[in-house]
Amino acid sequence: MIREHHLSRDDLIYPVFVYHGTGIMREIASMPGQFQVSPDMLPRLLDRVAEAQIPGILLFGIPAEKDATGESACRDDGIVQEAVRIARKRHPSLLVITDLCFCEYTSHGHCGPLTPDGDVDNDATLPLLARQAVSHAQAGVDVIAPSGMMDGMVGAIRKGLDDAGFSGTPILSYAAKFASAYYGPFRDAAESAPSFGDRRTYQMDPANAEQAMREVALDLAEGADMVMVKPGLAYMDVLRRVKDRFGVPTAVYNVSGEYAMVKAAAQRGWIDERKVVLETLTGFKRAGADFILTYHALDAAGWLREER
Ligand code: PBG
Ligand code: ZN
Repeated sequence: MIREHHLSRDDLIYPVFVYHGTGIMREIASMPGQFQVSPDMLPRLLDRVAEAQIPGILLFGIPAEKDATGESACRDDGIVQEAVRIARKRHPSLLVITDLCFCEYTSHGHCGPLTPDGDVDNDATLPLLARQAVSHAQAGVDVIAPSGMMDGMVGAIRKGLDDAGFSGTPILSYAAKFASAYYGPFRDAAESAPSFGDRRTYQMDPANAEQAMREVALDLAEGADMVMVKPGLAYMDVLRRVKDRFGVPTAVYNVSGEYAMVKAAAQRGWIDERKVVLETLTGFKRAGADFILTYHALDAAGWLREER
C-alpha cells in the first residue's frame, strides 16, 4: 500500500539480435544468456517472450552483407524486415520496435555514410534513415526507434513515414544517448564496432546533462512520440530530469555493459543476481522511466511472476 513505485513485466522490452543465416542460436560471449538468432529460430525465442508476458521486443539485425552506405538496411528482404514479418505473424499482439541505424550495416561500423575526410556525413544520413524507416513500416513494425543521434533524424524520419502513408507509426527517439563505454558487449553482439575512431562526434559527452535536455527538446519538436535515455545506471539523473521537464513517455536503456557486469559478478557468486536486477529495474522506475529496455527482461518477468 505504501510502496511508491511498482515494477511490473508490463514495463519491460526485450532486445533481440537477429542474425543472417539459418540454424543459428549462438550465445554472445560477453552477454551470457543472450543470443544471436537466425530468422528460422526466432519464433522459438519469441514464444518465450510471449509466455513471459513481456509486452514488446526491440529488434536489431546483423546482415550478411555490409558496404560503405549500409545499403542492406533498407531492403524489403533485409534481416530486420524479415524478423518483423515473422514476429507479426507468430505473435500479433507483441509490440515490435525496430532499432533504426546503419552501424550494423556499414563496412566501417559507423552510424551513417562517411565524408571523404572520414567523418559521419550527418545530412547524407537523413534521407537514408527515412528510407530505412519506411521499409520497416512496410514490413509491419509498430514503433521506429532511431538510435544514431544524427541531427535532424526525427524530423526526416517523420516526414518520410508520413509521405509514405505511415503517419500512424510512432517514433521512439534515442534522444539522450551518450558516447558510452557501456556499449562494448553490444558491439560484439551486433558486430558493429567502428573500424576506426569512435562515436563521440554524434553521441553525447557523458559530462553533459543540459545538452541532453536540448537534444530531447529538439527531438520532440521534430515529432518524437517517446524519448529514451541511454545508458541507464550512470544517467539516472538525466532520466529524472527528462521526465520532470518534458513529461512525455520516457524509456531507459539498461545497456549491454550494465548487463555484462551483473552477469559476471553473479557468475562468481559475488552478488545475488535476482535481487540486484530487480533493485536496479525498480531504480529506473523511481527515476522516472515509463518503460525499460533490458536484456534481463525474460529473467525479471519470471521473478516478478514468482513474487506475486
Ligand atoms: C546502434 C546502437 C547501439 C546500442 C543500441 N543501438 C550501439 C552504439 O551506439 O554503439 C547499444 C545497446 C547496448 O549497449 O546494449 N547505434
Ligand atoms: Zn548506430
